[in-house]
This record gives sequence, C-alpha cells and structure tokens, in this order.
Amino acid sequence: MITRAIPKTGELLPVIGLGTWQTFDVSDAGAPASRVAQVLQTFTAGEGKVIDSSPMYGRAESVVGELLAKLRARNSVFLATKVWTTGERSGVEQMRRSFDLFRTNTIDLMQIHNLLDWRVHLATLRRMKEAGQIRYIGITHYTASALPTLAEIIEREQIDFVQLAYSLGEREAEKRVLPLAADRRVGVIVNRPFGGGELFSRVRAVALPRWADELGCVSWAQIFLKFIAGNPSVTCIIPATADPAHLADNLGAGHGRLPDAPERRRMAKWWDSL
Ligand SMILES: NC(=O)c1ccc[n+]([C@@H]2O[C@H](COP(=O)([O-])OP(=O)(O)OC[C@H]3O[C@@H](n4cnc5c(N)ncnc54)[C@H](OP(=O)(O)O)[C@@H]3O)[C@@H](O)[C@H]2O)c1
Repeated sequence: MITRAIPKTGELLPVIGLGTWQTFDVSDAGAPASRVAQVLQTFTAGEGKVIDSSPMYGRAESVVGELLAKLRARNSVFLATKVWTTGERSGVEQMRRSFDLFRTNTIDLMQIHNLLDWRVHLATLRRMKEAGQIRYIGITHYTASALPTLAEIIEREQIDFVQLAYSLGEREAEKRVLPLAADRRVGVIVNRPFGGGELFSRVRAVALPRWADELGCVSWAQIFLKFIAGNPSVTCIIPATADPAHLADNLGAGHGRLPDAPERRRMAKWWDSL
C-alpha cells in the first residue's frame, strides 16, 4: 500500500483508510454486525490503519472499540475521532466517553467535528496533546462553504490535520485549502471520496474508460480513489463501506501507479463531460 508521511512528524500512514459514518452504526447482533466485523478484520489484518469515527455516528465508536478489542488490534490502527458538542465541559466529557468506547488511553487524532465551537475545543485539545492523551489535533468539515474557515484556521492556528470533502465530483478544495495545507505542513484527510455514494450513481450506465487500465484500476471506486490519492497534498482517504468486497476494492486503489497532474486534469475534464 502506498503510504504518505504526516507532514509535522514524518509518521507514515497508508493512503487508504476507513470511514465509519452510517456503516458502523449497527446493533450488536445480526447480519449488518457480522458484515462490519468482517470489514474491520480484513482492514486490520491487511494493510489498513486509519479509522475515522465520531460521537455523531451513533454506535460506531462503540462497535469499532468492541471489534478492535476482539481482534486485539488497537495498537495496529491509527484511531481518529472527533469532538462534536458545544462548551468545554461537555467536550471533555464527550471525549472521555470516546476513550472508554474505544477502550484505549490514547487517541491518535482528535478532530473538531464540523468546526463546532472550535475555539473552545482547540484549547482543550492542546492541553490533551501536551498530556499525551491525543497525538494529533485536527479540524473537519464536509461542505465547500466551510473551506474559507478551514483555510483561516490553517493559517492562524497550530493544527496537525484538516479533514475535508474532495472527489472527482467536488474539487473546490483544490483551489486554496489543499495547496495551503501542503505549504503549512498540515496533513489532509479526505472524507466523502465517493460523494457519499453519489459518484457511483452518476456512472451506473457508463463503461469503465479505456485509460482505467493504464492506472491499474479495475473498478469505478479505484478510479475515484486514485484521482484523489494522486494529489500530493492528500495524506489519507477514508471511504466508508459495510461490504467486505468493497473494502478489498478500495484497498486495491492504494497500489500501483497514481495519476500525475496532467492525467488528473484530464480525469476531471472527462468527469465534467459525463
Ligand atoms: N464532517 C466530517 O467530519 C465528515 C463528514 C462526512 C464524512 N466524514 C467521514 O468520511 C467518511 C466517508 O464519507 P461518507 O461515508 O459520507 O461517504 P463515501 O465514503 O464517499 O461513500 C460511502 C458510500 O459508498 C459506497 N461504497 C464504498 N466503497 C464502494 C465500492 N468499492 N464500490 C461501490 N460502492 C462503494 C458505500 O456503500 P457500501 O457500504 O455498500 O460499500 C456507501 O454507500 C465517513 O464515513 C466519515 O468517517 C466526516
């Protein structure tokens, strides 16, 4: 699997990670639970490392924590989650619960979800980082309208990661935030790489383009992910899936050749022409 260095430390992360929104919000028993158990087992047994969650995702943190304990895999993953509330005390309590649910003393990356009350939480996260409870600090959003605020925070504050939406269908981040993050040595985690699944709907009746083969892509998912991974500002992409076959497909995009800048421009032009 291709790896990328976290800009501030040089620590290497595999370029394909795993999101958990909706997919890991499952109850303990039944078919969905056993499918996500298989997803996480394949992810941790293979090349996967970065898992992204949030207290906003229902039972996801709890399910991930339980499965990691069963697999004895806590130490082989890079756990990223978020604080999503207002007020210092409420933030501290919510994060304490995340530690409990993940059954861990250290969370690798704590992010401020959708920038909610970010000034207050940033101060708390700095203290937690100094105390060794978290290793990295990040901010997240998923809309283009939040990109100017993400840029402002990258410029003014000391953060390690920014998480944003970026895909063939949503390329606004290319204009300012991705180059800025590279310039300020801030890692980039990409959410919604498939536009929440909408990108697949758009190509339902379209054959894989002939240049897919040149990039070693055998599926639409791999085309979508390689387009993103080809951007050197990107540290890690976190597609979500509850399907073990889709997980294998997504991990496959972390291998082989990635498109260079001219190829990526051609991919974007082709996408816009669909
Ligand atoms: N503000 C924030 O912090 C924020 C906002 C949005 C997202 N996120 C994070 O980013 C993660 C990813 O975003 P997302 O979950 O919104 O959407 P996404 O990853 O763009 O798309 C997920 C959808 O794609 C499908 N899919 C995945 N792999 C596939 C494959 N190989 N072939 C066909 N279909 C495939 C999944 O269905 P199957 O289950 O059937 O595979 C699911 O319906 C989230 O889970 C979350 O961790 C964070």
